[in-house]
Amino acid sequence: MTKESALSGFNRMRSKLSFGRMVEMAAKMGMENPLFRCHERAAKGTTVIDGKEYINFSTYDYLDINTHPEITRAVTEAATLYGTSAGASRLVGGERPPHRKLEKDIADFYGVEDCIAFVSGHATNVSTLGFMFGHRDGIFHDGLAHNSLLQGARLSGATRISYEHNDCDALEALLAEKRAGFRHAIIVTEGLFSMDGNVPDLPRLIELKKKYDCLLLVDEAHSLGVLGATGHGAREYFGIDPKDVDMWMSTLSKTLCGCGGFIAGSRDLIEFLKYGSSGFVFSVGMPPVIAAACDKALEILLREPERVRKLQDISQYFLHYAKDKGLDTGASQGYAVIPVIIGNSWVTGFLSQLLFKRGIYVMPISFPAVKEGAARLRFFISAAHTEDMVRKTLDAVVEEIPNAQAIVDKYQSEHTDVLNI
Ligand SMILES: Cc1ncc(COP(=O)(O)O)c(C=O)c1O
Repeated sequence: MTKESALSGFNRMRSKLSFGRMVEMAAKMGMENPLFRCHERAAKGTTVIDGKEYINFSTYDYLDINTHPEITRAVTEAATLYGTSAGASRLVGGERPPHRKLEKDIADFYGVEDCIAFVSGHATNVSTLGFMFGHRDGIFHDGLAHNSLLQGARLSGATRISYEHNDCDALEALLAEKRAGFRHAIIVTEGLFSMDGNVPDLPRLIELKKKYDCLLLVDEAHSLGVLGATGHGAREYFGIDPKDVDMWMSTLSKTLCGCGGFIAGSRDLIEFLKYGSSGFVFSVGMPPVIAAACDKALEILLREPERVRKLQDISQYFLHYAKDKGLDTGASQGYAVIPVIIGNSWVTGFLSQLLFKRGIYVMPISFPAVKEGAARLRFFISAAHTEDMVRKTLDAVVEEIPNAQAIVDKYQSEHTDVLNI
């Protein structure tokens, strides 16, 4: 094959990325690409880009734990003892003490028997669902479930049944109609939805999983450390028995300031995953330094519940201030994830850019990450944010919306043939 034909093949594949066309179009309109910006220090409540400080709403460091000196010390000690790599899959290369300590501490945190840690949060969901279920099974998932859950469901070959976001009546109707046709079935939801910032009706989901003999997986990526008086997540928020959820999943990349993911549950389930799930068996073990970092972050979370209170207070303040200003925060309940829904993707993109110029870093989210016409600025709130930062930001949002709209209107009036919005 000639170099040219190979390249044009690649370009045909690339055309799958409508995003590429959007970036091109945005550049023509004068919009800078907001993605992949380089931050010059740890991105916390504020961040530094090109030497300039910004109020930062794009970090998962919900409890303001990243860069904590105790974590730096724990990581340094672990690196000195074990190096930076686990060397091989834990199955064959063996464990290091921080692996099992982290897993035991997470299991205790959840009040369940055991836990397994994977090198990636995304791979945790893909490998767990992909391994556990097969073509005779059914996976009932919330319509807004994260990409990793959907990819896992796809890999499994099970029948995927999406129910309307957070609509337990719709789920029950589907279970009544279809559950009997499957060997095994699972209900999959998130503890706090990552785009909308709302919680599911977990007690009802537990009732349904019992009634229809299903397993239940709750992805706590955004609810660990965020929900409940002491940050114990959805189970504390709802006061439920942790054993009523079969798989407590979460990433280690958000509140716990590391990288990776885990499943916590019964000893039998964890052993099953340890010997079978591909993302664990055929992938290197998590670097021991990361396990040590996450374990220390967990210790800080448990020792300092005031961080959780601070996060919850500032999140509620943000939500109410935004609503008072007439902004559309959708279904958000004011726990760390709060969208400001703008609607039009281009207006949202320009709004993000105008805010950036005013020292505010917040990402625009548009289709396909959210429904067409529901583009938004997504604010991740951190315990490091202050009321002053929130007011400054939301006042700026209100002021800049008409300016962003005006840029798009002007372009549209001059290029009616190009911009179909
Ligand atoms: C709900 C949810 N699950 C899983 C993941 C994947 O986790 P990670 O980014 O740690 O791989 C994410 C990532 O943002 C998420 O939001």
